[in-house]
Amino acid sequence: MTASPVPLPWWADAVGYEVYLRSFADSDGDGIGDLRGLRERLDYLAWLGVDIVWVTPFFASPMHDHGYDVADYTGVEPLFGSAEDVDALVARAHELGLRVIVDLVPNHSSSEHPWFRQARASRDNPCRDYYIWRDGAPDGGPPNNWVSVFGGPAWTFDDATGQWWLHLFLPEQPDLNWANEAVRAEFDEILRFWLRRGVDGFRIDVAHALVKHPDLPDIPEAARPADPHDIGDAVSRSDWERYDHPYDVDQEGVTEIYRRWREVVEPFGGLLLGEVYLHDPARLARYLNPQDGLHLSFWFKPLHIRWSPEAIREVLRSAVAEVPEHLAWVQGSHDRSRAATRFGGGDLGRGRSLALATLFMGLPGVPFLYMGEELGLDDVAVPPERSQDPIAVRHRAPERARDNCRTPMPWEPVPGHGFTAAGVEPWLPFGDRRPQDTVSVQRDDPSSWLSRWRRLIAVRKSCDLGAPGIDWVDRDGGIVAYRRGRTVFAANCGDASATFALPAGGWRPLFDSAAPAMDGSAGGDRAVTGRLALDAAQAVILQHEG
Ligand code: GLC
Repeated sequence: MTASPVPLPWWADAVGYEVYLRSFADSDGDGIGDLRGLRERLDYLAWLGVDIVWVTPFFASPMHDHGYDVADYTGVEPLFGSAEDVDALVARAHELGLRVIVDLVPNHSSSEHPWFRQARASRDNPCRDYYIWRDGAPDGGPPNNWVSVFGGPAWTFDDATGQWWLHLFLPEQPDLNWANEAVRAEFDEILRFWLRRGVDGFRIDVAHALVKHPDLPDIPEAARPADPHDIGDAVSRSDWERYDHPYDVDQEGVTEIYRRWREVVEPFGGLLLGEVYLHDPARLARYLNPQDGLHLSFWFKPLHIRWSPEAIREVLRSAVAEVPEHLAWVQGSHDRSRAATRFGGGDLGRGRSLALATLFMGLPGVPFLYMGEELGLDDVAVPPERSQDPIAVRHRAPERARDNCRTPMPWEPVPGHGFTAAGVEPWLPFGDRRPQDTVSVQRDDPSSWLSRWRRLIAVRKSCDLGAPGIDWVDRDGGIVAYRRGRTVFAANCGDASATFALPAGGWRPLFDSAAPAMDGSAGGDRAVTGRLALDAAQAVILQHEG
């Protein structure tokens, strides 16, 4: 008897899309995106060809970190809508063949969550142990030298009960104590609550940090040699980056939590996608055991590299070698400067971003777009007086502010940009978006960035990705290229035109990032043999003939 083949999970050949909810579409004219606005724009995402929609947190929140401070894990924030709006969103998405994953924030709650209010009420409150409390150091300072990701110490003193609470982010985001079984049980139910409501899975915020070393030892100053590929921006000069993190994140035992969650989500077919922010693929692989780990994790290193063929080759190859099938490939997020800006700005940056996306499309795993990437959007320089991000507002580090990548989507070249009503001031400025940056203008132009991204996604869906292995067919020089089965993916990541030797046989172009319009059929050009020439930032997908 032969074993029947294991069916592929529903996300196996999917493409994902991050919706930063506050900035996607505002249906009620308050200048902030909401659930109904997103529902009304789902047709666009279906047309674009993505499959998974990750929606940033819409749970009840005092918004100190724009929803990543959750005061009720099963309640919907009125600013974004109601529970019925979630149901309607999920129902419409499913009608369109889209899946919805919600953003679960388990590392910390809001300080206004009833658990924390009770925990603060007295040392012997049953919720006290939901959080991490310690006495101060003998000198009266914090219990150890841990720092917050946002800057400053990771501890705040509670006058009423005379102890310090731990927060790897804002003081208003106290870290939950995952050593406490009661916390684990609470989250089992939170997962079930949303799965029963029909969501298709979870993006797990700060998934690598839930467990801390039980002794909370001091962390050492960073001893790592500088990574030559690293972009070396303001983030890499932050308090957090000044230390190594052997005790505060990525602890043994964190994967046990995901083993437990796999059992919870499996009956629903739910997806677990981690924000595992580790730049070492071998460490990342520990979270992705196919049997009982997270199904997918983002791989963030591409958000931190300079544009160079060496950096791109390294960042792709190292991850594929360690984690063959469980990566979500990203080049942007609501936490980083936009890819087009990081990669040089303007059309240069847009072209490079599309070239990197082309390389992502054939790798095992799931490519994700960050809202607006498909338009080639670059950052908006949000003036300091309009800053919203607590990193800028609270920690006075405007150079690290995440506002510039979070500005509203430009849908149409009209007042309000089709994001909100004319005359409404959005929560972050639109910036000087041009008509050709908008969805409606690009949609009708076959040579636009949007049309190219859409063709790229369609080609990923249609081409033969059956073969599991990746064969890197580039040698060195500017072109990064690999073969998967009958398909070659290649991008010129250098600064000048270059050629490379195709594997034997004839190769028919399916996608060309530089082709202004290849009509709906995407291809049909004559087969190429021998050497292929690509301009700087040009990327192609080719299929073997015969
Ligand atoms: C994640 C989110 C980020 C948030 C932080 C704290 O990194 O992506 O936006 O500020 O977690 O929850």
